[in-house]
Amino acid sequence: MTDTDKPQTYFKTKLGSMVLGDALDVMAKWKASSIDLIVTSPPFGLVRKKDYGNKAANEYVEWFKQFGEEFKRVLKDDGSLVIDIGGSWIPGQPTRSLYHFKLLIMLCDELGFNLAQEFYWWNPSKLPTPAEWVNIRRVRVKDAVNCVWWLSPTPWPKASNRRILQPYSPSMRVLLKNGYQAKKRPSGHDISTKFSIDNGAAIPPNLLAVANTESNSYYLRYCKEQGLKPHPARFPAEVPEFFIRMLSDKSDKVLDPFAGSCVTGEVCERLKRKWTCVELVEEYLQGAKGRFMNGQVTKVKNGEGKDKDPVEDSSNYYRIPRTGILWNGQDEGSLVEDGGQARPSKTKSDEES
Ligand SMILES: C[S@@+](CC[C@H](N)C(=O)[O-])C[C@H]1O[C@@H](n2cnc3c(N)ncnc32)[C@H](O)[C@@H]1O
Repeated sequence: MTDTDKPQTYFKTKLGSMVLGDALDVMAKWKASSIDLIVTSPPFGLVRKKDYGNKAANEYVEWFKQFGEEFKRVLKDDGSLVIDIGGSWIPGQPTRSLYHFKLLIMLCDELGFNLAQEFYWWNPSKLPTPAEWVNIRRVRVKDAVNCVWWLSPTPWPKASNRRILQPYSPSMRVLLKNGYQAKKRPSGHDISTKFSIDNGAAIPPNLLAVANTESNSYYLRYCKEQGLKPHPARFPAEVPEFFIRMLSDKSDKVLDPFAGSCVTGEVCERLKRKWTCVELVEEYLQGAKGRFMNGQVTKVKNGEGKDKDPVEDSSNYYRIPRTGILWNGQDEGSLVEDGGQARPSKTKSDEES
């Protein structure tokens, strides 16, 4: 891996460019209020450092502040900053770091960003880690969501949820078909008949369900052909795409300051946004070039069969069991009173799960 001192343009398309260098140096050269959207997944504050220079959780907020100041300066008043950030565990004990919440509070309280909305990206394919707390001592559950902070310099970033609608749920489709009797809910909410107007699609919640399971993309094949190591912490295209669609228009300027393999650039290219992706490590940009080399960028895959209607195709849906399905009739046993401090001796069912 090669780090550079002075930023240099590494690769260009008509709409965008990859820059090799430090995002702080790149932004320092830019005019104030010149960017419409920043969407990024920074290095997370990790307990065990990964090989792309993550900061330890306790130094994280100070490190990030300098970037936050530049983000605020270069963003337009109606622009947005979207940060995908994973949580982490305190070393040696089954408790969570607060670093990503501290980051959010610093960005709002010290730098003056507004929290437009918090999102959660649920990755249904996430493995149960840390194994020690989740699989062995069984005192915590699988951590399968990242926080995504949507921030804005003013309370009024441009946005439209019409751009990111989802199919109605099966129960809502039944309700739309059979009609709805307007009445007060037990919560006191007055649900009017407007609720049963078919708008063609549903407004999504602030939970994005996207499995991070890319295994056969053009990017991966390109890396393999070129003998390059794929970036180890890529986000799936749907995550930046959701926000790029909702928060920017065609020809708007989008920045990913911690670009990694340039997923953001690829999505922007496809959606006709101007883009800049900045990355410190040359090897990651070598692989990222592959996203743009074949003249066509990869589309989000909907379903397996080309002929299938994506709404009807069940492979486009994740199923999550309703909490409580298995609760009845189970022998609870007793909780371990030390909260899991002592390692249990292995039981057969632990080994199987
Ligand atoms: C979580 S990864 C981003 C992955 C990316 N979203 C993707 O899907 O490929 C964070 C990246 O930020 C890069 N990075 C860290 N500090 C940086 C800096 N000061 N300027 C530019 N890039 C930086 C790291 O090298 C790493 O590749």
